[in-house]
Amino acid sequence: MSKKIFIIHGPNLNLLGQREVTVYGKETLGDINNLIKTKAAELSLQIECWQSNTEGEIINKIHLLKSEKYNGLIINPGAYTHTSIAIRDAIASVEIPAVEVHLSNIHAREEFRKTSLIAPVCVGQITGFGFKSYLLALSYFA
Ligand code: DQA
Repeated sequence: MSKKIFIIHGPNLNLLGQREVTVYGKETLGDINNLIKTKAAELSLQIECWQSNTEGEIINKIHLLKSEKYNGLIINPGAYTHTSIAIRDAIASVEIPAVEVHLSNIHAREEFRKTSLIAPVCVGQITGFGFKSYLLALSYFA
């Protein structure tokens, strides 16, 4: 049976395509979700993409992943990467392998972006490859 992977796009990622395009690229979130769907089909992965601007909603969604029998999580926590102990604890609680992704290279930007509170509870972090960061994460799960 094919693996089920859940993809979470965090805050402000609904504005992709109009938000700081030189940093995040010209693709909209819809474009990126379509690219993810195509790649997932190639890799025979079942996927669900979901976006929220709200920390609590993201935590509630992560809690559901175990009962919904997901095999993996790909998460771009946006700015919550650098602030949210609560999202980190939620990922640690559900014990589902998670990959943290970023469009931009968070290590090549402002100092405050260099720290991820999420990465230590993830299998790994993929950062700086634009929308391809998500596709590389799918390859990991395949
Ligand atoms: C981001 C990087 C974060 O620092 C930033 O707050 C974002 C996007 C990225 O994908 O490059 O919202 O997660």
